[in-house]
Amino acid sequence: MANLFSLNDLTINDIKGILNRAEQIREMGREGWFEPRHLLVANLFFEPSTRTRTSFEAAETRLGLKILDFSSNVSSTRKGESLYDTVRTMEAVGAEAVVIRHKKDRYYEELNDGIGMTILNAGDGAGNHPTQALLDLMTIRQEFFSLSGLTVAIIGDLRYSRVARSDAEILTRLGNKVLLSGPEEWKNDQIPGTYVSVDEAIASADVVIMLRIQHERHEQAMKMSKEDYHNRYGLTKERAARMKPESIIMHPGPVNRGVELDSNLVESPHSRYFKQIHNGVYARMAAIEWALDLNGKSSSPRPVPMAEHL
Ligand code: CP
Repeated sequence: MANLFSLNDLTINDIKGILNRAEQIREMGREGWFEPRHLLVANLFFEPSTRTRTSFEAAETRLGLKILDFSSNVSSTRKGESLYDTVRTMEAVGAEAVVIRHKKDRYYEELNDGIGMTILNAGDGAGNHPTQALLDLMTIRQEFFSLSGLTVAIIGDLRYSRVARSDAEILTRLGNKVLLSGPEEWKNDQIPGTYVSVDEAIASADVVIMLRIQHERHEQAMKMSKEDYHNRYGLTKERAARMKPESIIMHPGPVNRGVELDSNLVESPHSRYFKQIHNGVYARMAAIEWALDLNGKSSSPRPVPMAEHL
């Protein structure tokens, strides 16, 4: 059993193994649902989420795991329970793993001692978002049949985006050129990459990743209007027209239509926005299998006959 806090903790072989398994499960289609395994997991989301939460739930359901119902707004967190005590409680009621999203950077460091079960990081503050990086790699490889030698532009709120850090770090490790761009005040020298203008980044990239503005982490309200941001740093129709013919647009979501990218581009032929979300289920299934070492433990992927439900 292993934890998944950051892809920096994994070898390239581990990461490629997870991605290969994710593709294998995707290709199984409806056959890629597993028998019940009688293992409990809990999804502890202390920040809002649509994609990560539901795709972890979909992944766990398809893997045959049992999901403990947990909502932070009706949990004893409201009475002052610490993260450690909540996680320790999940362990005490029998969970094999917890998936955690929390606003605190590196929240998992306070869980290192005393917790014996698997922890999967679903996003820590402006720290890391490892499963988003996995699904992004999966989407890129489906397009270019390679995980290296590409030029990837990451544009926008680099300072507060955990997706930017996770993507830039693993894309650099894999041998890609990472171009960074965005407002001066959101530059982040802790993220690997080369700063260029927005126009240059978009025109020269194979993959253009537009970032959501992380208003919830900003100490001050953004001074620019949304229209101003879109014109100066967004993927406008005009900039999109200058993209390389085979290039793709990605965005971790939720997308602010008309701000980071023109609304019409969200489902344009260049865009892989909904494909990323779809891939997230398989990437998370493979990540959970890896972390819990599920392969070979039980269960072949076969539809459960009706009689077994009776
Ligand atoms: N990409 C992502 O983390 O989206 P959610 O916040 O909706 O989970």
